[in-house]
Amino acid sequence: MTAPALAPQPTPSATALLSGTGLAKAFGATTALHDASLSIEAGELVAVMGASGSGKSTLLHCLAGIVEPDAGSVTYQGSRLSELTDAGRSALRRSDFGFLFQFGQLVPELTCLENVALPLRLNGLRRRPAEQLAREWLERLEVSGSAGRRPSDVSGGEGQRVALARALVTGPQVVFADEPTGALDSLNGERVLRLLRAAARESGAAVVLVTHEARVAAYADREVVVRDGRTLTR
Ligand SMILES: Nc1ncnc2c1ncn2[C@@H]1O[C@H](COP(=O)(O)OP(=O)(O)OP(=O)(O)O)[C@@H](O)[C@H]1O
Ligand SMILES: [Mg+2]
Repeated sequence: MTAPALAPQPTPSATALLSGTGLAKAFGATTALHDASLSIEAGELVAVMGASGSGKSTLLHCLAGIVEPDAGSVTYQGSRLSELTDAGRSALRRSDFGFLFQFGQLVPELTCLENVALPLRLNGLRRRPAEQLAREWLERLEVSGSAGRRPSDVSGGEGQRVALARALVTGPQVVFADEPTGALDSLNGERVLRLLRAAARESGAAVVLVTHEARVAAYADREVVVRDGRTLTR
């Protein structure tokens, strides 16, 4: 079987919600990104694919304003992230971005309900309305039975749906998901992906979905491949 043709990523469109252009990042002697570009429009689900160590997570971290690139720029809703202060970037991450990682990374001391309510509380919402909204999201993600339990007392699939509820509860414009199904069996993985895609479609959120599995990328509208720190489109 011949590999599909890969072409350099086109110039980001002017209508993009979020776009990173010419991103480079080195960690000491290791170059994680050479020249990576990715732009995403509202409502789009883009899969970022590539081998282990190719630079996928670094690209996601640059786009989300977690890591500052050495070169290139990231523009969100027309503003460059590098022009914001650290506090401004943190505030933007809390208000506009949602995050989902491979291992839910729920706070072990809090119940699942409190975990989901946490981003709302950090945004200044009072406990009662925050927990009410959190409860609605747990219900929607088919995991309301976990509300009063701690993360250590729920299954991997349940925990990941709780983490997804936490990523979506603030109504983010962009959801960043880094190998969100990497620790799940295929059935639970598919459930998380279906719920993520449905929620994003409904709210018009863009999703950057990092994965190295073709099965996971099949849920995306579009694929971007990262190879040796460079982006290519399929
Ligand atoms: N904080 C860091 N310090 C040093 N090197 C790093 C750091 N983060 C990433 N790297 C290196 O940069 C390269 C790209 O890493 P990255 O995590 O972006 O890859 P990835 O495509 O997400 O891989 P995986 O599929 O294994 O998660 C790798 O060689 C990695 O070892
Ligand atoms: Mg990674």
